[in-house]
Amino acid sequence: METVLSGIRPTGNLHLGNYFGAVKNFLKMQHNYNCYFFIADWHSLTTHPTPENLHDNVRTVLSEYLAVGLDPEICTLYVQSDVPEISELYLLLNMNAYLGELERTTTFKEKARSQPENVNAALLTYPTLMCADIIIHKANKVPVGKDQEQNLEMARKFARRFNRMYKKEVFPLPAPFNFGADLVKVPGLDGTGKMGKSEGNGIYLSDDPKVIRKKVMRAVTDAGPTEENQTPPEVIENLFTLLNIVSSPDTEQYFRDAYAKCTIRYGDMKKQLAEDIIAFTTPIREKINDIYNNSDYLSEVTRMGAEKARLSAGKTLKEVRQLIGFKSF
Ligand code: ADP
Ligand code: TRP
Repeated sequence: METVLSGIRPTGNLHLGNYFGAVKNFLKMQHNYNCYFFIADWHSLTTHPTPENLHDNVRTVLSEYLAVGLDPEICTLYVQSDVPEISELYLLLNMNAYLGELERTTTFKEKARSQPENVNAALLTYPTLMCADIIIHKANKVPVGKDQEQNLEMARKFARRFNRMYKKEVFPLPAPFNFGADLVKVPGLDGTGKMGKSEGNGIYLSDDPKVIRKKVMRAVTDAGPTEENQTPPEVIENLFTLLNIVSSPDTEQYFRDAYAKCTIRYGDMKKQLAEDIIAFTTPIREKINDIYNNSDYLSEVTRMGAEKARLSAGKTLKEVRQLIGFKSF
């Protein structure tokens, strides 16, 4: 069975884009692949070094992952910093990672620009840590968004380099996981293309109904259709797309028909959309809260995750140490 791995930095709550664009697919994948899902808390230190928030951010993401249905009995769900083996592989990979190639990474250049006061070495070597994350479990596939494609390419490069250097195909080259027909792009409500954290237009799984209503009612629309059967502009198509994602097919069709007949009332459509989002998120939000407050459960989940991840990581590391030439006396 192929191994799939995905990491998420604990820097915020999950929004509908994260859920329908990625996490929902993870729920299926955990049954068909050997899956590793982890929270990249070391990575988050490259930009968010605040001891006050770190634990809480990890707890939040973990609770959300569990609430939506990642099953820690089926997949391996763990916190990066619970697996010290990753840091050893990271150190070893850094021996063969070169300043030039690291400096050329787009994510590094962007961060160096956006936080000039904190261009730290871990920011530079972010791709080697990410590579260690992936290859320590010999992952074959990594679901990544556009912004992470280059980092994954670097991971392949480092893995290939290691295999060549030590003349053994230790590591499979991790390929991007292709969601195919399951790839969903969740639009924003502000007329921009995509819902995103940095876009500031997220509807979060943890948002309460009042907040959701407010966000949806503020969605950008236009003056309305002027001719029958005209093609809706992007801002309106975005709302239909959201209906398609969270509402019943009848509901979407009802408003599409109303648009085509020029009888649509955007206010009604937004109200319906808000209620359908609320119906979808409410049970999840309640579950997130329960799990978040259940320290015993979270402690058991992370203990089990760390144990499974360390077992797999330890095996790889043993092989790596041997190849590099470490021997015990
Ligand atoms: P953000 O864009 O909010 O910063 P991240 O980059 O943390 O989100 O997203 C993590 C993953 O969630 C991405 O790799 C992508 O697969 C998915 N994702 C995020 N936003 C969307 C969206 N609007 N539509 C579809 N998928 C999305
Ligand atoms: N860099 C990824 C992001 O910002 C998170 C991440 C860390 C990751 N290690 C990974 C993703 C390994 C996939 C595989 O979204």
